[in-house]
Amino acid sequence: MSAPNLTLWLDGELRSTANPQVNLLDQALHYGSGVFEGIRAYDTAHGPAIFRLPEHMDRLQRGLAHFGHQADLEAMCAAMPGLLATNGLSDAYLRPIAWLGGNGLSLDVEHMQLRQCVAALPWTSHLGETAKAGLKLMTSSYRRNSSDSMPPLKMCGGYVNSLLAKLEATRKGYDEALFLDGKWVCEASAENVFFAKDGKLTAITHKDMLPGITRDSLIAISGAESRAATFAELYDADEIFLCGTSAEVTPVTLLDDRELPIGPITKALAATYQDIVHGRDTTFAHWLTLAGEKRRGAA
Ligand SMILES: Cc1ncc(COP(=O)(O)O)c(C=O)c1O
Repeated sequence: MSAPNLTLWLDGELRSTANPQVNLLDQALHYGSGVFEGIRAYDTAHGPAIFRLPEHMDRLQRGLAHFGHQADLEAMCAAMPGLLATNGLSDAYLRPIAWLGGNGLSLDVEHMQLRQCVAALPWTSHLGETAKAGLKLMTSSYRRNSSDSMPPLKMCGGYVNSLLAKLEATRKGYDEALFLDGKWVCEASAENVFFAKDGKLTAITHKDMLPGITRDSLIAISGAESRAATFAELYDADEIFLCGTSAEVTPVTLLDDRELPIGPITKALAATYQDIVHGRDTTFAHWLTLAGEKRRGAA
């Protein structure tokens, strides 16, 4: 998604995306040695609110700890309200990223310089405007990165795996790729998977999947069971949806050659999720970090 010219926070200073001052020989550009997060801010009656900010920043640091580095999480979080205001955003996607640069192109990470950036972008879904009306999901010929090879966190280099799977799916006319591990379901290229059968909702778990914060939220909201599931079970489901910070709740209407309806459980949970993230349902109000005043005249 191409972004307009925006102000972002880079190593403690505000910069324009037109003048980012990044070194093209930074290690992360060559080897993927960075960790990022995808976070949403939503417009609420009390101004923009950031959804599950501490959990996202905790996951970012858990990834960075594998490189032996510590991000300035406080400074990154403190920059967010100002970025939303400067860029005129209430509903937004926040992208903190911490990556390794400088000191040449060795494979040593511990003595590299840590660079930190936060961007705030206008956002709908990375799956496109029409995804909420139903998405075509294709089982991928790729396997998910094994958690025995790299931690299942948001490590930049790990996303090559997602990009390849997604490209394979979109070239075949699908919207998104589903990773399997033999007969077991893992996750989609950038979302976790839920299914409903006979009125019972299941959140699929797998050792190689990203421990999604939306997944965790939806389990807390719905009381869904969390367990491993086979592809045969998924194929036989009454309803399937994908979830993620960007995807929110996105129904699946085609799995390979099997058509599915957008069922009542998916519809109800998608609506409840929207009420919670926008602060209309206050059951989980502690998940929202207020990030600015309601702008005068804003709806
Ligand atoms: C591979 C992968 N799985 C699942 C998710 C969903 O995670 P979350 O709900 O924390 O955004 C993402 C989000 O970007 C992802 O990249």
